[in-house]
Amino acid sequence: MRNPKFHFECRNCHETIDGFEQWFADGQKCPNCGQKWVDVRYHEDYSRIPNLIREKDQKATSLFHYFDYLPLLDKKNIITRGEGVIRADRWPFLEKFALEQYGINLTVLAYRNDDNYGTGTFKDVAAAMAASVLKEQGIKEYCVASTGNIANAFAYYLAIAGISLSVFIPDDALKANEAGVSCYGQKVFRVKGDYSLAKKIAAEYSQKHHILLSGGNIDPARVEAKKTQVFEWLRQLGYIPDVYLQALAGGTGPIAIDKGLNDIRSLNLFNKDPRYIMVQTSGCDPMTAAWKKAQKNHFPEGWLHDFPIYENPKTKIPTLANGNPQTFPIIGALVYKTGGDFLTFNEDLAVDVARLVAFENQVQIGPAAAIAVGGFFEGLKQGVFNEGERIMINIGEGMRRSPELLEEMIYTTEMVSTSEECRPFNRLDYRDRLWEPVKSI
Ligand SMILES: Cc1ncc(COP(=O)(O)O)c(C=O)c1O
Ligand SMILES: [Zn+2]
Repeated sequence: MRNPKFHFECRNCHETIDGFEQWFADGQKCPNCGQKWVDVRYHEDYSRIPNLIREKDQKATSLFHYFDYLPLLDKKNIITRGEGVIRADRWPFLEKFALEQYGINLTVLAYRNDDNYGTGTFKDVAAAMAASVLKEQGIKEYCVASTGNIANAFAYYLAIAGISLSVFIPDDALKANEAGVSCYGQKVFRVKGDYSLAKKIAAEYSQKHHILLSGGNIDPARVEAKKTQVFEWLRQLGYIPDVYLQALAGGTGPIAIDKGLNDIRSLNLFNKDPRYIMVQTSGCDPMTAAWKKAQKNHFPEGWLHDFPIYENPKTKIPTLANGNPQTFPIIGALVYKTGGDFLTFNEDLAVDVARLVAFENQVQIGPAAAIAVGGFFEGLKQGVFNEGERIMINIGEGMRRSPELLEEMIYTTEMVSTSEECRPFNRLDYRDRLWEPVKSI
């Protein structure tokens, strides 16, 4: 063993892998059984965590506050733009709605990934970690397939690290994501097909040119970066929320939260794991479909491997357009284990939700985040929340990821040519109209 800080352990056969050097040399899979899902194990115990999460600790300026428990050897390789230390805000307008419409008392928190300093999505932590690891390993070229946001974040952070990145995005990926990659001089391959085809072409390109390919939802760098949100919740709130609600494509979020909780389980800093409530968009919801089918059949033998594959899904939220949910066996098991649920939110209402949040709370959420907030309304209707629960909604992106959605937010404009036509107004007069769509869910 040469790596003094951590090693990987194969989830399948428990083989030990000596960190990223061996991992990359072996093609990012277990040398013994060929599986790709590993856990990072640190040689240091977790006794430093209680200090790091002390509420008054002002030294947290990025996810690297948790450097001791991240898979990087030397601090000089850290690439950061202050991502990961983001606020968990109370959103009382959603609490009031839950109480008035459904008679249920909830604490509703919004985890403000839209505030991340890199590219303004919850992919920033993953990209900062990956860029740091690749720098440490002396890697100069990398490639990734993405529905949009991961491409964007990787393009930015890898450019800072001096690494060339080829990204493969599906043909419906948002223009803003393409621009966000291209502007840093990183290469865009817009694939004539869906995300599955983008992944296939990326894998072939990686093989042919011997360029490392990002490992997707179970990539150890991504998972370790995103697990730090668990530590942040403890630092900021002093507790782990009862429910974690996220818009779902592949599901790195719950995988990472589960890893973070497992890391520190022996410290007794929390009582129970959150229930994972995953929200898919109505234009692409294969995991919800698989879950509903399994539920109807009382979770028969093999249900985790019974999921539909949607080719070329037609959705207005391309960021979430993952039609081939290869991670369902992992996410389904986590949701099942924690008493969670899979929901689908009608994407035709995404703009209404985004307008409502901007009106009530002055936060511009992006399209995928609108699906997550929409999932809160859908969850209320379906009765999935329990009295007194603390719900954490992952606001995964802000409006800057989608100028298209921003334009759709316009609803107060009047064309005029004289001052006589301009009458004073009261902004509160818009309120009822804005609530109407979510009240009719
Ligand atoms: C803002 C936002 N929310 C949710 C998701 C879905 O993330 P995951 O693939 O981890 O399920 C994405 C993925 O790109 C995203 O960018
Ligand atoms: Zn193995």
